[in-house]
Amino acid sequence: MSSEPEEFYRIAKLPPYVFAVINEMKAKARAAQLDVVDLGMGNPDGATPRPVVNKLIEAARNPRNHRYSMSKGIPRLREEICAHYKEKYNVDLDPATESIVTIGAKDALAHLLFAVIGPGDCVASPNPAYPIHQWGVIMAEGHSCMLPMPDPATFLQALEDLYKRSTKPIKMLLISFPHNPTTQSVDLDFMKQIVKLAAHHGTMIVHDFAYADICFDGYKAPSILEVEGAKEIAVEIYSMSKSFNMAGWRVGFCVGNPRIIHALARIKSYLDYGNFQPIQIASIIALRECQADTQKIAATYQRRRDVLVQGLRRAGWPVESPRASMFVWAPIPEKFKAGGSLEFSKLMLEKALVAASPGIGFGPMGEGHVRFSLIENLHRTRQATAAIKRFLAEA
Ligand SMILES: Cc1ncc(COP(=O)(O)O)c(C=O)c1O
Repeated sequence: MSSEPEEFYRIAKLPPYVFAVINEMKAKARAAQLDVVDLGMGNPDGATPRPVVNKLIEAARNPRNHRYSMSKGIPRLREEICAHYKEKYNVDLDPATESIVTIGAKDALAHLLFAVIGPGDCVASPNPAYPIHQWGVIMAEGHSCMLPMPDPATFLQALEDLYKRSTKPIKMLLISFPHNPTTQSVDLDFMKQIVKLAAHHGTMIVHDFAYADICFDGYKAPSILEVEGAKEIAVEIYSMSKSFNMAGWRVGFCVGNPRIIHALARIKSYLDYGNFQPIQIASIIALRECQADTQKIAATYQRRRDVLVQGLRRAGWPVESPRASMFVWAPIPEKFKAGGSLEFSKLMLEKALVAASPGIGFGPMGEGHVRFSLIENLHRTRQATAAIKRFLAEA
């Protein structure tokens, strides 16, 4: 028996992981004692709020919490997420049928696609995108229909055109605003138009809301469920990872349309026993008591955004300042465009000791850009822009 992974049916559909090239270079540089500023992966560097950690410890001491939990999440946590939606978005949700706890947003996305997408089903989504949006569809044997998204209006137009020319129904629309990696964000009116269009064509919507709370300058990202009637066709996926610095805890939710939630619950009931119960209990505290921490987390990213954007502009690299997310999406300087985003990222790591994610890793339409994550402190972010300035001047 060969151990070549490419010979496995599903694995053969997955291309080599582009980001692994940069990760390997980074590891090598660090092993050689070089000080790499890592603006690559969107991995929050801050601590989880103290009351959440304390609750986890307290709950972990209770043997009753050591057993298998419920695959769809404990009722008290589902009630809390629904209370959060009522308070923040004035959206009414039934905890029993319109919410489910997931092992992070990524788990929710992968298993939801697995649950509702069959061979050849069309899933329309913007590209570039968070990789599971594209590869989760492929793994479920659906057809990923990528639409360009330089900005939300262009995406909406491309979607309208797709509906006009497609001979097959579009089964699902998979969107995410504030958007990773492009940082594009939308207002409620955009969501209304999307819901109207999808409802007209009988398409279900999955809205990945991972950056719901990472908003700047007073901007508030809309929940798709704020749109009247959205619950008829849409679910929203909310993540604790960014809002509460809980990326390693692996907890998120899916809320909205009961039929879609039921499908996810059913498939999950075969696959998992739910999150470790103390994590679920601690998540209640996060949602109930830690909204001020979320604001502080967003403010930290905003300060880093300002330093990075201004520093890059001073280095002769004009970039847009995002109003949400934890990234800066930067078009590759003209001089380096021809070589592509992977080559440019490798060069920047080698010459400036700054790691960023090559746009091509987010799909074919990500080419021509690199993504910086705002995960280093202000001092190290300044160090990065100073090094980039020297690198660009010498290149
Ligand atoms: C758009 C998007 N969705 C989902 C996730 C993953 O969230 P979670 O940690 O809850 O799985 C990320 C993480 O980077 C993301 O960027």
